Amino acid sequence: MKTVKLNNGQLMPILGMGTNTFGKVDNNYQGDINMDTKELESAIDAGYRMLDTAISYRNEAVVGKAVTESVVDRGEFFLVSKIPGRPEYVKDEASIDAAVAASLEGMQTDYIDLYLIHHPWDNLDEMLATWKVLEKHVENGHLKSIGVSNFNEEQLTYLIEHATIRPAVNQVESHPGLWNDEIIAFGKEHGIYSMSWGPLSRFDDSVREKLEPLANKYHKTWAQILLNYQIDRDVIVIPKSHDAERQKQNIDVFDFELTQEEKDFIQTL
Ligand SMILES: NC(=O)c1ccc[n+]([C@@H]2O[C@H](COP(=O)([O-])OP(=O)(O)OC[C@H]3O[C@@H](n4cnc5c(N)ncnc54)[C@H](OP(=O)(O)O)[C@@H]3O)[C@@H](O)[C@H]2O)c1
Repeated sequence: MKTVKLNNGQLMPILGMGTNTFGKVDNNYQGDINMDTKELESAIDAGYRMLDTAISYRNEAVVGKAVTESVVDRGEFFLVSKIPGRPEYVKDEASIDAAVAASLEGMQTDYIDLYLIHHPWDNLDEMLATWKVLEKHVENGHLKSIGVSNFNEEQLTYLIEHATIRPAVNQVESHPGLWNDEIIAFGKEHGIYSMSWGPLSRFDDSVREKLEPLANKYHKTWAQILLNYQIDRDVIVIPKSHDAERQKQNIDVFDFELTQEEKDFIQTL
């Protein structure tokens, strides 16, 4: 698996598995947790080592169960979770400490590889205060890297200017319906990796049709073309699939190279 080197030197797989509907009844985001780990087991078998969960998904324990029951060592996994930007989680140091402790316990681990603030809110100083508590958890070893999600330039800049630790990652929506190129370029300029959420969804069916000629040329699927495109431009991706075959397809994206003309075309989609 190709890795990227984050701004603190930590290596992170450039492709991982989104999990926001895993371990839930009917794979419904809002569904009850049933602790079913079958999608995670097939993903781990297929070679996925980076797993993206969040407190809001309520399934950190499902991820933890799959990781601890797997034959793969904990050290080979790269676990990502997120603290919600809601008052009950971030109103003071004790609430943030409790959230980090709950994530560690849920995932049955001593450390989390990357912990993100899931969403920004309308108060830069409060977000900085939250960040400083997360920095403390980097110092005490609970969190290896910290980052943010859905942050804009102003919010990133505030952290860059006032924090001790620079965010390692900004997880943002990115796919042909919304590439989010400006914030990705801003991150690159400032040593912050962008991580695309929703890389295979939320866009029009016509995009898939337009990708067919490229898919045929490379003997790949439209999904593999899109993932290869993002990886080529150093965007970390977390495609999610409940299907073992599609999981295998989505990780099999490192053996071809799009031409510049083809990349330019994809960028216009
Ligand atoms: N930070 C945030 O605010 C935020 C927001 C949303 C999501 N996320 C994270 O990002 C992850 C990914 O986003 P997402 O789950 O919304 O959507 P996604 O990964 O863009 O797409 C998932 C959908 O694509 C289908 N799919 C996957 N591989 C395919 C393939 N090779 N061919 C055809 N269809 C395929 C899946 O269906 P099947 O299951 O049937 O294959 C599923 O319906 C989430 O799981 C979550 O971890 C973060």
